[in-house]
Amino acid sequence: MTSPLAETVLLTGSNRGIGLEFARQLADSVDTLYATCRRPDEAADLRDLADEYASTVRVLPLDVTDADSIEMAHKLVATDSGRVDLLINNAGVNGGGSSDRFETTDAETMMHTYRVNAVGPHLLVQAFADLLRRAGEEGGARVVNITSQLGSIANTRGGTWQSYKASKAALNMCTRLQHGALQQDDVCVVSMHPGWVQTDMGGSNARLTPQESVAGMVDVIDDLSMDDGGRFLTYAGEERPW
Ligand SMILES: NC(=O)c1ccc[n+]([C@@H]2O[C@H](COP(=O)([O-])OP(=O)(O)OC[C@H]3O[C@@H](n4cnc5c(N)ncnc54)[C@H](OP(=O)(O)O)[C@@H]3O)[C@@H](O)[C@H]2O)c1
Repeated sequence: MTSPLAETVLLTGSNRGIGLEFARQLADSVDTLYATCRRPDEAADLRDLADEYASTVRVLPLDVTDADSIEMAHKLVATDSGRVDLLINNAGVNGGGSSDRFETTDAETMMHTYRVNAVGPHLLVQAFADLLRRAGEEGGARVVNITSQLGSIANTRGGTWQSYKASKAALNMCTRLQHGALQQDDVCVVSMHPGWVQTDMGGSNARLTPQESVAGMVDVIDDLSMDDGGRFLTYAGEERPW
């Protein structure tokens, strides 16, 4: 193992797509990875990874919209490690994607997308704030909210993916709120755009493989300092407008 990226990492949506690739790349470069997903029993690829890295990877159930599930995960990590050095809020939904237009979007789609993409990540950081602060006291901690450039208000003129865009804009605001609450405890919070990535959400025409996107994000995360807190960065380390 090269020098560890972080001691203890909590990752959401680890069973497929970008989250599974994060789990694969982090398994070898952290001390403990809590790789969470909604249904561990159905997460065959993730469980294979956990078998291969039995001393590092622990698979936990976590639905970011379920307060009990967040509380159970917190209890387990608190007892087991007592700290979280890096929290990656990766889980997300597309909110109807390209068929979600101004004329068609509905309350149910908007609310569900907001709950998964913004409320869940915010409440997860709130719930784990004590364990992040513990790591902050002992050298610094990081929260990475996986957002999208589609959530950039400055760059949006309309179009499809409406619920998704609104939810990621909300997540970006949550990044600034979280950073405001935690920066004095040496917890750095950023929003990060992974690029357009070949996953179920990104589709097969996307520009990047999950390996390329996550390798870039891991490098950016590795280089984060407190001065980066509250910034909106891409997988390549570039700044995006809010
Ligand atoms: N792919 C892209 O081009 C792209 C671009 C910009 C931003 N992003 C962002 O990157 C992140 C990962 O996207 P992806 O492309 O890997 O998407 P994906 O392949 O559709 O995977 C989404 C992940 O989120 C999980 N998830 C959904 N609802 C959840 C909930 N309530 N609780 C916990 N986990 C939940 C899914 O778990 P289940 O299997 O249980 O549904 C799955 O693991 C998302 O935040 C997305 O918005 C992606």
